[in-house]
Amino acid sequence: MMLLSRGNALLSTVAASLAWASAAGAQQATGASYAGSTVTAAYPPTNDTSYSTYFPDATQVGYPGPTPTGAEPEAIATAAFAPLEDANPLTPPSAAGSSAAAFDVLRYWGNLSPQYTVPSFGLPDSSPQIPEGCGLNQVHLLMRHGARYPTSGGGPADFAAKLHAAATGAGFVASGDLEFLGNWTYKLGAEILTSFGRKQLFDEGIRFRMRYGELLNGFTELPVFRTTSEDRMVDSALNFAAGFFEVRTYLEDYYQSIIVEADGFNNTLAPYGTCNNSNVENIGYYGDGQGDKWADIYLQSALKRLQPQLKGVNLTVTDLVNMQEMCSYETVALGFSVFCDLFTPEEWEGFEYLIDLQFWYSEGPGNPTSAAMGLGWVQELVARLTETPITVWNSTTNSTLDNSNITFPLNQPIYVDATHDTVISNIVTALNFTTLAAVGPLPTDHIPPNRSYIVSQIAPFASNLIAQVLSCPASEDPTHIRFVLNDAVVPLTGIAGCDAEDKNGLCALPGFISGMQTRIGEIDFDFDCFANYTMPQPDEITDGRYPAWLRNGTSSA
Ligand SMILES: *[C@@H]1O[C@H](CO)[C@@H](O)[C@H](O)[C@H]1NC(C)=O
Ligand SMILES: *[C@@H]1O[C@H](CO)[C@@H](O)[C@H](O)[C@H]1NC(C)=O
Ligand SMILES: *[C@@H]1O[C@H](CO)[C@@H](O)[C@H](O)[C@H]1NC(C)=O
Ligand SMILES: *[C@@H]1O[C@H](CO)[C@@H](O)[C@H](O)[C@H]1NC(C)=O
Ligand SMILES: *[C@@H]1O[C@H](CO)[C@@H](O)[C@H](O)[C@H]1NC(C)=O
Ligand SMILES: *[C@@H]1O[C@H](CO)[C@@H](O)[C@H](O)[C@H]1NC(C)=O
Ligand SMILES: *[C@@H]1O[C@H](CO)[C@@H](O)[C@H](O)[C@H]1NC(C)=O
Ligand SMILES: *[C@@H]1O[C@H](CO)[C@@H](O)[C@H](O)[C@H]1NC(C)=O
Ligand SMILES: *[C@@H]1O[C@H](CO)[C@@H](O)[C@H](O)[C@H]1NC(C)=O
Ligand SMILES: *[C@@H]1O[C@H](CO)[C@@H](O)[C@H](O)[C@H]1NC(C)=O
Ligand SMILES: *[C@@H]1O[C@H](CO)[C@@H](O)[C@H](O)[C@H]1NC(C)=O
Ligand SMILES: *[C@@H]1O[C@H](CO)[C@@H](O)[C@H](O)[C@H]1NC(C)=O
Repeated sequence: MMLLSRGNALLSTVAASLAWASAAGAQQATGASYAGSTVTAAYPPTNDTSYSTYFPDATQVGYPGPTPTGAEPEAIATAAFAPLEDANPLTPPSAAGSSAAAFDVLRYWGNLSPQYTVPSFGLPDSSPQIPEGCGLNQVHLLMRHGARYPTSGGGPADFAAKLHAAATGAGFVASGDLEFLGNWTYKLGAEILTSFGRKQLFDEGIRFRMRYGELLNGFTELPVFRTTSEDRMVDSALNFAAGFFEVRTYLEDYYQSIIVEADGFNNTLAPYGTCNNSNVENIGYYGDGQGDKWADIYLQSALKRLQPQLKGVNLTVTDLVNMQEMCSYETVALGFSVFCDLFTPEEWEGFEYLIDLQFWYSEGPGNPTSAAMGLGWVQELVARLTETPITVWNSTTNSTLDNSNITFPLNQPIYVDATHDTVISNIVTALNFTTLAAVGPLPTDHIPPNRSYIVSQIAPFASNLIAQVLSCPASEDPTHIRFVLNDAVVPLTGIAGCDAEDKNGLCALPGFISGMQTRIGEIDFDFDCFANYTMPQPDEITDGRYPAWLRNGTSSA
């Protein structure tokens, strides 16, 4: 238990603190020496062992009452569309000078936003509900894990460490809006899902069952769903399955494929492990530098406003970015964060655009490794759509797994793959969803109007990309495909073979497949992932590939 030891006794009563607040210039509060330190906990208690026999489980107790089952739901065809309304149970954060209702801070966190229903990707008349006259034949779900702690070595921990170093030294004074830092501690772990993240995937499982459960009638064997080996990936897949099936039986209701995520392993759901250029700082992390240029602009007034309220710490723009990240991470881990309303709505818009820049130039249309990294999953999609096994291993696919109709079945009505934010961004680039890249390359000195690339709409926590395979008119034979990204239909107008501008985002299935085969042929995994190149200056890439005209006739390194 931590005890508060503050130097300023004036803060102990309301009257006194009002007097204190009104004494302009005298806002002084030295911090506790533990400020910024890391607090952790571990549950369950290690010594609890021996009472389980006193608590038999339901099968041992018996008497379950009647258990008749009902029909599988198919709300995606039979119900009116129900948007995702909130991020319950998170306390809605507010921005400085703005109420939570007036400005929804949650939506300005890019990949750290909880998934929400995207209003539109440019097809205002479309809905994720199955279009009139069409029947649903198959569904492919590609989903991101739920809300997590920061990744290892992330910015929020750096900020905490810097603060703690100052608090243990002399001259640390936090006052005004930053006074809370005087006894704030860092309570975030790393990498793993938060409780809210588990809920997101459990809810996603339930929502997916409600919408698409009817397709389970088409299985004669148990489904295979896939994820990667990271803790949060397994946790997300299992929480999804517990929601989709039933928490008491889900382990027997399907097979979970867990593909190793580590350097050197072929994994279409974690392609960076074998795409070397994606790990070269000046190529794979190019977006970080692009984002830094923008952060230097949009955070200047925040720096001037906040620095006077903190003595003993020289704030940098990086610290402020870390504090904005802290707001989102604390909110999704702890339910609320005091950091959020340190920043104005404009600064939250700036933060959102910072993440858009990072993704665009590191993982999206502006990076030369993006399409190569998304390629393997696109090859798998084509294999599934055509029920034709993959025979050429020239990307991140793993022949051991994908050559087997047990580990990589091609006849499922439902496919569920779990992956990461960056990979969804790679895959939508490989899929040639060029409407997302329509406003680009992104400038680093201002936010362009009419943006088409917004990361909170592409790769938020629990993001989902759904391919609906349909027959229009309804029949046994699939005729069309379309993509629904976080509840909004994606226009497929850029894809060769999807020529008609369909208001429901429909593309004839044979056209889509041939378009994807063309796209697969365009992407040179070997060159983009392994050739010894530098980023083109300026980086005007918009299709996720190294520009052919810059290759100089050199071959792969
Ligand atoms: C931090 O200090 C404030 C008063 O300034 C107090 O209300 C709060 O309970 C303290 N928090 C902790 C964790 O000690
Ligand atoms: C577990 O029990 C032992 C023996 O009673 C005790 O010494 C130890 O502190 C306990 N450990 C924990 C974590 O409570
Ligand atoms: C492919 O998958 C198999 C089965 O999981 C695994 O043993 C092997 O190491 C993987 N190979 C590569 C190159 O990832
Ligand atoms: C990619 O990087 C790995 C690990 O550093 C290395 O073993 C491998 O040879 C590299 N591949 C190529 C084609 O350069
Ligand atoms: C902050 O910057 C000033 C001016 O450069 C410097 O004198 C001071 O030592 C710095 N303080 C800390 C805590 O780094
Ligand atoms: C892994 O990917 C590389 C590059 O595409 C390929 O050459 C190799 O055969 C693959 N290995 C397996 C086991 O699929
Ligand atoms: C897998 O392929 C084998 C050999 O072609 C075949 O006998 C078997 O029925 C297939 N299994 C499934 C589940 O499709
Ligand atoms: C933004 O979109 C509006 C409405 O579609 C259009 O009138 C305007 O010209 C667009 N602005 C730019 C800079 O593209
Ligand atoms: C990808 O999109 C671009 C721009 O819309 C288009 O010119 C190109 O033909 C498309 N390629 C494929 C294979 O779909
Ligand atoms: C990779 O394999 C696909 C077949 O899946 C083929 O169409 C494509 O041309 C190959 N790419 C390269 C660069 O050889
Ligand atoms: C890449 O090319 C540069 C410039 O030609 C050269 O200095 C460097 O050693 C090369 N790197 C590798 C890994 O081959
Ligand atoms: C092609 O040549 C230019 C100019 O010499 C150089 O900057 C670029 O890195 C080269 N590209 C490749 C892929 O070697």
